[in-house]
Amino acid sequence: MTRKPSLASLSINAGAPEAKNGNAFRRGPEFASTFHLSGDVDSQVYQYGRFGQPTWTSLESGLAELEGGDTVIFPSGMSAASAILTSLLNPGDTVLLPSDGYAPVRYYTEQYLVRFGIKLKTIATQDIDSFDFEGITLALLETPSNPMLDTFDIHKAATKIHKHGGLLAIDNTTLTFLGQQPLALGADISMSADTKAVNGHSDVVFGHVSTIDKSISDKIRDWRKASGNIPGPMETWLVHRSLSTLDVRLQRMCDTAMLLAHELNSHDKVISVRFPGLASDPSHAIAKQQQQLFGFIISFELESKEAADKFLAACQLVYVATSFGGVHSMAERRARWGADKIAQGVIRFSVGCERDDDLINDVMVALDSL
Ligand SMILES: Cc1ncc(COP(=O)(O)O)c(C=O)c1O
Repeated sequence: MTRKPSLASLSINAGAPEAKNGNAFRRGPEFASTFHLSGDVDSQVYQYGRFGQPTWTSLESGLAELEGGDTVIFPSGMSAASAILTSLLNPGDTVLLPSDGYAPVRYYTEQYLVRFGIKLKTIATQDIDSFDFEGITLALLETPSNPMLDTFDIHKAATKIHKHGGLLAIDNTTLTFLGQQPLALGADISMSADTKAVNGHSDVVFGHVSTIDKSISDKIRDWRKASGNIPGPMETWLVHRSLSTLDVRLQRMCDTAMLLAHELNSHDKVISVRFPGLASDPSHAIAKQQQQLFGFIISFELESKEAADKFLAACQLVYVATSFGGVHSMAERRARWGADKIAQGVIRFSVGCERDDDLINDVMVALDSL
């Protein structure tokens, strides 16, 4: 029986050159700012490096296949978020952001958009399922939220916001398109900080925006060209190279996260654990319904700031850093950034690609030392 390969298998070669004699399996990065352009301007060819170039085209076509929508790449996750907000909102519009999501998205809106007449409303992720969306022009939301991993039903939110004429954008950074398909679930826009798992090697800052609506991607592409928020060819190529291993990395990270979450849940030094893969977690039902993976981020609470800092210092295999999604496990005490609603002893733990027995042993020894 013939069937379409899974996205996981397609991700290995997405955006690669055509499989025909003489073509390389992979293209290298093309370093070019300027292209030959004689006569009248021809919109079908590359013209100038800020408008478009071949290395971008390769990655954008691969991501478009995996996201299920036209894709525009950016030099960071924040520039992808800024592109959505700045190109789609007008004075008088209301934007809805999560109060418990990635804080710089709120900061950008408050600092740079509110003064041009855009209104900001915030909502806790756990309240989204019961929210009506009336009066919201654009909602840019995260599920699971980061760092506390609350979820909401994307299809339900999309249906409600569309009824009121608004747009739903999902920041899909924590799961990637292999873990959740926002566009297939009804969202208008899916965005990602590819700095995290998509690139996955902690050596590139990157982002992208995908949409099923060509009029939206036209505006977003135009904003990139007009504002000059463009990725370099080397970074673009590195992200494309990482796509081929995303599925194996994610499988390993998510499998280990599930094992580690269970171990943490039964350790007497751990007060509570948030991981959507645990059947007891408040996010489990929705995660099971709409996600292909439960993810690789675990948030858990230790008794105090001191206990959390001691735990982090005692781990041998875990890097202390403020990021996630890399091949190396990373963790941090999240409240160190001053987030008011996060308890002082909460650790955000991003599971990497170490062997599960090594990593779990490392974490358990560190907890036992408290
Ligand atoms: C959920 C989420 N969205 C967006 C961003 C911004 O990405 P970048 O740091 O690549 O600008 C981050 C970064 O941590 C993030 O965690």
